[in-house]
Amino acid sequence: MQQIKSVKGMHDLLPTDAKHYRALELVMIELAEKFGYGELRTPLVEHKNLFIRSVGSESDIVHKEMYSFNDQNGDELALRPEGTAACVRAGIEHGLFYGQKQRLWYLGNMFRRERPQKGRYRQFSQFGLEAIGFADQYIEVEIINLVCSLFKALEVNSRLEINHLGSNESRIKYVSELKKYLTLHIEHLDDDSKRRLNSNTLRILDSKNPNTQAILSSAPKISEFLSENEKAELNFITAKLSQLGIDYQINPRLVRGLDYYTGAVFEWIDQGLTLCAGGRYDSLVKQLGGNDTPAVGIAMGIERIVQACNKKLTERKSIAVLSNADAAFIKAYNYAEILRTETDYSVYFEHNNKLKPLVKLANQNNCGYAIILGQHELAEDKICLKNMSTGEQVLYNSLAEIIDTLENSNV
Ligand code: HAM
Repeated sequence: MQQIKSVKGMHDLLPTDAKHYRALELVMIELAEKFGYGELRTPLVEHKNLFIRSVGSESDIVHKEMYSFNDQNGDELALRPEGTAACVRAGIEHGLFYGQKQRLWYLGNMFRRERPQKGRYRQFSQFGLEAIGFADQYIEVEIINLVCSLFKALEVNSRLEINHLGSNESRIKYVSELKKYLTLHIEHLDDDSKRRLNSNTLRILDSKNPNTQAILSSAPKISEFLSENEKAELNFITAKLSQLGIDYQINPRLVRGLDYYTGAVFEWIDQGLTLCAGGRYDSLVKQLGGNDTPAVGIAMGIERIVQACNKKLTERKSIAVLSNADAAFIKAYNYAEILRTETDYSVYFEHNNKLKPLVKLANQNNCGYAIILGQHELAEDKICLKNMSTGEQVLYNSLAEIIDTLENSNV
């Protein structure tokens, strides 16, 4: 029978890897909660229209990469490709934004049918922050600072790039000038950029094609089209970042692949991969049927952060409780229960009338110690604690004494 494998670009996470992911996610959640962000969980499936109206019908994400389908009722649905649209949809639906500021975080799987490669998957996981109802730029500073603190804690190296995309008005003027300039050089543009000239001109700035890049080096820059207010916004953010000791680079070519941004945008990049990205989106709440509500957010790809994380996050230690006599079973079983409630160890309980296979199992499970209870220990009314790396065995009078020893040990 032919074996069924996982879907291309979608991966299993085995226990040894999953524990790194979980440890890292806990650091993210803990920090977000410390900044006052609360969790929002939204469904994996949304109406397809939600993403068309927010991310944009011409964006690659919606145009080429979305997993969409009609359900039995004929409703057009989609697996979510990102989290911002759903946060805004849910906030409007539940009245979260009426006269209130909301700091939200989310963690979950997203789906994009991209060409799989290192750091790019068809199912991936994002941790995101959305601050909704904040008009002034202190919130950009807060969010950027939060991400920088997180990366410092995780020992993630990256370069922070910032740009301002301008309001609709400045952007329309800019896009029209950019289009004029690129039309003059159309024969040297790559095919993707030619196609984007009329549908998504700004995205051409993202092209990696060397010929297109050469043409872009003399193209008009968005900074020349920003209003005084918009320039002041960018200056405010960068001045505050400098005060906080946060390094950044202004990248006038930084555009985002989603249509909803209206102000400052930012990305953290390492070795050609964007680890985290976001920006201000002041029109989205209104566009999706809510009141005029300003907002800023970011999202980071968990798989990419796991790869970039240099910090060894502390892992739960393991201990084995080995019962090798029927008469010892219930006593040993209760010891395992006590260890699970009174210590942080993962406790593996194993029973077999022979000791050797039990010790082998303790080794397989990377246990630093094994507690052994058999005929010999029962007869002497003692408990044996075996250090699995040195092989040293010591007899104790009580489990409480053993717990004391474990607390003072780094094994
Ligand atoms: P995005 O730039 O599309 O923005 O995605 C954010 C992050 O998700 C990327 O920087 C990357 O780390 C990760 N990511 C994206 N696609 C993939 C993939 N195929 N495989 C692995 N990782 C991936 C957004 O999604 C916006 N919602 C961010 C935002 C939040 N803006 C405002 N609020």
